[in-house]
Amino acid sequence: MEPQEQTNFMPRLGDTAPNFTAKTTKGDITLHDYAKDKWIVMFSHPADFTPVCTTELSSFASRKEEFESRNTALIGLSIDSIHSHLGWVNNVREKTGVYIDFPLIADIDMKVSKLYGMLQPNESETATVRAVFFIDPNKKIRLIMYYPLNVGRNMDEVLRVLDGLQTSDKYGVAMPVNWNKGDKVIVPPPKTLDEMNQRLEDDSIERVDFYLARKEI
Ligand code: BEZ
Repeated sequence: MEPQEQTNFMPRLGDTAPNFTAKTTKGDITLHDYAKDKWIVMFSHPADFTPVCTTELSSFASRKEEFESRNTALIGLSIDSIHSHLGWVNNVREKTGVYIDFPLIADIDMKVSKLYGMLQPNESETATVRAVFFIDPNKKIRLIMYYPLNVGRNMDEVLRVLDGLQTSDKYGVAMPVNWNKGDKVIVPPPKTLDEMNQRLEDDSIERVDFYLARKEI
């Protein structure tokens, strides 16, 4: 059996996102052909028609434009049928006015859940945990969140880490604790004595010491 077929398989940061073709509320999707040149935030929820999941999916949907402005496509997933997804999407729209207008994978055979370590048997054997995969335009997994069934995710944090990843790629910098878009960033530390001596002379950055320096971008 391939490692990816085992229930305990967990993808890791830097891995190529495992490819799959799946049925979704927007038709069949093949991950590696989907949203070319975009980031993808793919997330699982435990089940349709459940309260915490309804708050989370509504939040992803009502903030979809914030993801789009970051060149990012959303994909949801749960171990529910297409009929369940359609009924739930329609119910949420009727009750709250929020339309979940991004693909929801109907992972009834658990194929994608197992590929992404979304099924964690000591949490639930039948429902996916609240996972989030940040996949870059080269289809590399760049950040993974796993939340349990009983704690909903924080949409500001989802957007914050997406900003962090994209800012890091664009400017070759790192993000300090509690960083938010617009804050100063960390300049990567020097790797040689020459670089260290240059850093000690560099007055264009906010330097605490040669290994800890911030700058505006
Ligand atoms: C919820 O979304 O409310 C939920 C789903 C599964 C287990 C516990 C809570």
